[in-house]
Amino acid sequence: MLNPAMLIAPLSIGAIGAGLAALISVTDKIVNNYGEVTININSGKKEMTVQGGGNMLNTLAEQQIFIPSACGGRGSCGECKVKVTSDIGPTLPTELPWMSSEEIKENVRLSCQIKLKEDVELEIPDYLFYIRRYTCTVERISDLTHDIKEVSMKLPQGQSIEYKAGQYMQLEAPKYGKVKEPTQRAYSMSSAPHEPARIEFMIRLVPGGIVTTYVHEHMQEGEKIDAIGPFGEFHVRDTDAMMICVAGGSGMAPFKAIFNDMIHTGRINERDCWYFFGARTAKDLFYVDWLNELQEKYERFHFVPALSEPEETDDWDGETGLITEVLDKYLKMPELANAEKEGYLCGSPGMLDACMDVMREKNDMPDEKIYFDKFG
Ligand SMILES: Cc1cc2nc3c(=O)[nH]c(=O)nc-3n(C[C@H](O)[C@H](O)[C@H](O)COP(=O)(O)OP(=O)(O)OC[C@H]3O[C@@H](n4cnc5c(N)ncnc54)[C@H](O)[C@@H]3O)c2cc1C
Ligand code: FES
Repeated sequence: MLNPAMLIAPLSIGAIGAGLAALISVTDKIVNNYGEVTININSGKKEMTVQGGGNMLNTLAEQQIFIPSACGGRGSCGECKVKVTSDIGPTLPTELPWMSSEEIKENVRLSCQIKLKEDVELEIPDYLFYIRRYTCTVERISDLTHDIKEVSMKLPQGQSIEYKAGQYMQLEAPKYGKVKEPTQRAYSMSSAPHEPARIEFMIRLVPGGIVTTYVHEHMQEGEKIDAIGPFGEFHVRDTDAMMICVAGGSGMAPFKAIFNDMIHTGRINERDCWYFFGARTAKDLFYVDWLNELQEKYERFHFVPALSEPEETDDWDGETGLITEVLDKYLKMPELANAEKEGYLCGSPGMLDACMDVMREKNDMPDEKIYFDKFG
């Protein structure tokens, strides 16, 4: 049986760590008065004078410039890269795991790890100037499975958001319990762009996780939650190649957005699409009726759910086995083997890495035609 202490421990350690970091940062600002510093972005396109001493990621966010930060600034996602064109010293050990040698040479830095001690010049993609913070109202929270909730949010009256199906937002949980700071994490939108006044998510509970515990145990319909975005490069490429889509768990979210978008634009009739969804038992499956309906209605859409450990009571007559085995079996069928293909994958890092190996090593799909968002 699961010991409740095992669930609470990571949350407490995370909260203590975050509290300690905040304390160190405040003390540092008081002891070392860094004064004002100037941030010059894209050769003067934007220039601002700010109080020094904070980290670059948060300081830019205070100025309404939002750099992607899927892990919320913990140095564990590698998403918050900016190119620094002035001299701010060498790359830090905490940045190195995320940097290629080319990026180190070009002084690409992790903005969450850089403390602003002096004037700095940066280059960022122009689209980041258009990222916004939306204060949304939670409209509906419902259970998709025993550990995944669907959360639907309304944007503020009169506001709308433009995004590509497959992109993600950063949701900000407020401080609660032992968590003393608002905390952001990345969540793929499961809503489609043709409904721009609301956004929807599928959020799987990570035991002891800060934001998922908030969503599953504290969030109420009617409350306000901040969402920042849209971010990310996970979207369908505009080609006629066959789409090989693979997901597990809440990795369903961007695919719900993508398939609804393809229906809305008519693309669903124009290219072949195979969707492989891996689950352990029938209780981990959801949206099966909807996906079966799509398969019946659209000749070029195929849905292959697979259970790795079906239970007797599941009464399952679909594919069984690991999603990697099922994917490999289908990719070797002549109809798929001989087609030009693109891979689209979403879910846990372990499942994604194993499926990408199947695509690349066992079925010769080129690396540059495989697109993914790793949830972790
Ligand atoms: C681009 C992107 C899109 C994402 N989209 C979604 C989405 O649509 N739905 C969704 O549910 N999640 C999604 N995630 C994952 C999400 O951002 C969080 O990492 C996850 O929800 C855990 O957050 P937390 O604050 O609850 O846990 P944390 O407080 O961050 O973590 C607590 C502990 O659990 C570990 N942990 C973190 N994440 C996981 C995990 N996924 N599985 C197991 N252990 C973990 C951590 O290492 C830590 O030890 C996405 C991630 C990325 C990068
Ligand atoms: S925000 Fe994740 S590494 Fe910087």
